Amino acid sequence: MIPGDGIGPEVTQAVVRILDATGVKFEWERYAAGAEAFELHGEYIPAALYESITRNRVALKGPVTTPIGGGFKSINVALRKKFDLYANFRPIRNLPGLETKWPGVNLIVVRENTEGEYVGLEHEVVPGVVESIKVVSEKGSTRIARFAFEYARKHGRRKIHSIHKANIMKLSDGLFLRCARQVAEEFPDIAYGEHIIDNTCMQLVMNPYQYDVLLLENLYGDIVSDLCAGLVGGLGLAPGANLGAECAIFEAVHGSAPDIAGKDLANPTSLLLSAILMLRHLDEEAAAEKAEKALETVYAERKALTRDVGGAAGTSQFADAVLAAMGSLP
Ligand code: NAI
Repeated sequence: MIPGDGIGPEVTQAVVRILDATGVKFEWERYAAGAEAFELHGEYIPAALYESITRNRVALKGPVTTPIGGGFKSINVALRKKFDLYANFRPIRNLPGLETKWPGVNLIVVRENTEGEYVGLEHEVVPGVVESIKVVSEKGSTRIARFAFEYARKHGRRKIHSIHKANIMKLSDGLFLRCARQVAEEFPDIAYGEHIIDNTCMQLVMNPYQYDVLLLENLYGDIVSDLCAGLVGGLGLAPGANLGAECAIFEAVHGSAPDIAGKDLANPTSLLLSAILMLRHLDEEAAAEKAEKALETVYAERKALTRDVGGAAGTSQFADAVLAAMGSLP
């Protein structure tokens, strides 16, 4: 467990209470990461945290602040790289009781998680000129495409769109597309299409129903998943999983939200939905369903929703309502 900073400790505390009420017995190993870990241990990612994830092969993570325009490198990116968590999986779905412009949205964002601009290769060529290198490999592109197609086949999804800018980034995005097309040939049961990223953003806000599974490189996936979170009610609602061959880290799509941190205002739904993905990953289907049903009841009844979705409840009050819906509030 990495509680994170900003709203991280508040949302993780709420989620741990709910997870404990599912009946699954958790033993949490808790670690700080980022600025807090540096103050405590002189390291941004303590060696003991790496060791814990290597041993347990699964982690639940709150958001961690990354300084903007300087300072230490992103902890999130470092963890994804270290454990080769190449698939970032973000399901986007409406919750009951929430009015949004588009009801019934149900799509999956699959984002390549280890390459692209996020390899962090930036340097100053001469004062006033910097270069930032984007890395796209055949291996990385093929395995994320295969992940998307295998997921689609297993879960009855019918259509995958590769999202790209290969009209401008002819070599890098061109390679990404070539790999996706090759994998698509192995899956004739799943329709395959390609859209340019800028058009995709417009299409998503005009008619999100045309998409089923979106397959994107790292940076495009980062941006489009926030856009998609907005379609279903905001960043407080969108869960995520970082999946690799060896281990998995489950975390919300949103960041540390410094503007509302420490005020008991954060919506823990996104992290709770991520934790529900984690339960399913651990084959704890009954526990996942119990938590999910309770969450949906709270939304359907609209009694204890947080402010970001039009309610007036605090983080802990919302968690109480989910626990009550599970029949677990003392
Ligand atoms: P943010 O996601 O923290 O906040 C954007 C807006 O959404 C804010 O108005 C915030 O109040 C609201 N919001 C986010 N989560 C919410 C929740 N659970 N409930 C209610 N409202 C919520 O994005 P921002 O401000 O761009 O980033 C802040 C910090 O978080 C940065 O240092 C960034 O690097 C870091 N970050 C960390 C991530 C991670 O740990 N996986 C992911 C994204 C950003």
